[in-house]
Amino acid sequence: MAEPDDGVPLQIHPCDAPHVAAIREIFNEVILTSTALFEYEPRSHETVRSWMEMKQAAGLPVLGCFSDDRLLGFASYGPFRPFAAYRLTVEHSVYVHAECRGRGVGRMLLKAIIAEASRNGLHLMVAGIEATNQASISLHKRFGFTHAGRIHEAGHKFDRWLDLDFYEKRLSAEADASAV
Ligand SMILES: CC(C)(COP(=O)(O)OP(=O)(O)OC[C@H]1O[C@@H](n2cnc3c(N)ncnc32)[C@H](O)[C@@H]1OP(=O)(O)O)[C@@H](O)C(=O)NCCC(=O)NCCS
Repeated sequence: MAEPDDGVPLQIHPCDAPHVAAIREIFNEVILTSTALFEYEPRSHETVRSWMEMKQAAGLPVLGCFSDDRLLGFASYGPFRPFAAYRLTVEHSVYVHAECRGRGVGRMLLKAIIAEASRNGLHLMVAGIEATNQASISLHKRFGFTHAGRIHEAGHKFDRWLDLDFYEKRLSAEADASAV
């Protein structure tokens, strides 16, 4: 089990209703300070609560990385596109609290969400990453994601155009059991 700087062991387990406020805080810091999410307005508590309920009702994972009871980050996935032939492809995301970045939390979460997707028999994982998001690109490359294409000027935020890069990883139960 990994440990953060203060020596408290980190644990990965599913998030639930009591974690909505902490998830919202992480989402909203990312929305307000970065181009990782293509949104302008902070999400309300109600929006994040509905998002969590939708995930749970659909059997989709929301995995958290915890130090004691504190949520340091979370990862989730959902359908890449809502059409039947995409049923074995998911698009995932990983968010780490601003105070906890660069300490391996993102690595733990991505490893866990890949393992979860493998366990659930999925075939392909896709990440849509804003083209200048070096932290996310490094993280995904480390786990074998490869660049699959770029949508130029897909978004506009903070007075500039945002390119969206897609990264893909094909899953195999054997390979992912020994993932990094
Ligand atoms: C991207 C993010 C999830 C990475 O999580 P993290 O806990 O900070 O990353 P880790 O400490 O686990 O490091 C993972 C890898 O990314 C690299 N990395 C981390 N921060 C980096 C940075 N600012 N610039 C370049 N590389 C960076 C690390 O060197 C590491 O690579 P290595 O394993 O080859 O050494 C986190 O920074 C984050 O939540 N950012 C804001 C939201 C976001 O961008 N989410 C992704 C949306 S696609």
